[in-house]
Amino acid sequence: MATEDLIEEIQRLKAERHAVILAHSYQRPEIQDIADFVGDSLALAQHARSTECEVIVFCGVHFMAETACILNPTRTVLLPDLQASCSLEASCPAEELAAFLEANKEKNYYVIAYINCSIGVKALADVIVTSGNAQRIVETAPADRPILFVPDQNLGAWTARKTGREMTLWNGACHVHRQFTRDQVLTMKEQHPDAEVVCHPECEEVVRLLADHICSTEKMISYCRESTAKSFIIVTESGILHRLRKLVPGKEFIPLATGQCSCAECEFMKLNTLEKLRDCLRDLSPRVSLPEELRLRAQKPLVRMLELSARP
Ligand code: 13P
Ligand code: SF4
Repeated sequence: MATEDLIEEIQRLKAERHAVILAHSYQRPEIQDIADFVGDSLALAQHARSTECEVIVFCGVHFMAETACILNPTRTVLLPDLQASCSLEASCPAEELAAFLEANKEKNYYVIAYINCSIGVKALADVIVTSGNAQRIVETAPADRPILFVPDQNLGAWTARKTGREMTLWNGACHVHRQFTRDQVLTMKEQHPDAEVVCHPECEEVVRLLADHICSTEKMISYCRESTAKSFIIVTESGILHRLRKLVPGKEFIPLATGQCSCAECEFMKLNTLEKLRDCLRDLSPRVSLPEELRLRAQKPLVRMLELSARP
């Protein structure tokens, strides 16, 4: 089927189903272009919580669709490809976290979980953070309790440095962001001496140290728009380049080449396609459904995050 016909069919099904299409900035360009809203994990969670549409089609990875379902349980939440998982989520199984907390009971950890985690991990957390609000949320953690930050050691270490709060870090990382190296950044800087380096906090410290700015995918857009620089080396998943080029015209965005490819791709994010988006709207499947007791426990720290995030 021609792409225009596919797009037309998606629009028709979307209207029939009274659906909203939410997409993360790492999605394929054609999915971003057809979405009603494109954003980072925080903005997507806020949107999912407040939508009045009956169906949410979540073009992202599983934990994101799960988060939408936790926050807005009366909606039908669809994920075009249920195999769209996340290596960072996988680096912290809920049973391992529960066993760690049990073995360290006397420490009475205040558990801060990056939103890239399963519902089981969220249910064990005191509060959730995203890369867009981690600093602000960590600053509100009780001063008399030690912090355990899961699952991303890189976001955790960056936030610890920014806030001055000591934290025990879970040994987790994202396989896409951990492949960027210091040498790759240095080589690119040599080739583009006037470009600023903008990097995601999921990158390792040796890479973060070379960055002019470190922020979430959403903040990359405002940063690049407002900066006086004309070109930027972007150190994160390549999907964001489509948004940057669209929303910040007239500036140059250079992806950081990794070992084998000219840019870094999250294969899980790229599993969603226009065909699968059409199919899930047509079939109302694959659908995310959650056990209610677990959902209620995971909802608490998520709502706490949204409330803390909304404070002036
Ligand atoms: P953002 O919340 O910054 O979009 O990050 C999500 C993510 O999965 C990064 O790998
Ligand atoms: Fe997970 Fe990394 Fe993909 Fe983001 S880029 S969804 S952290 S695997």
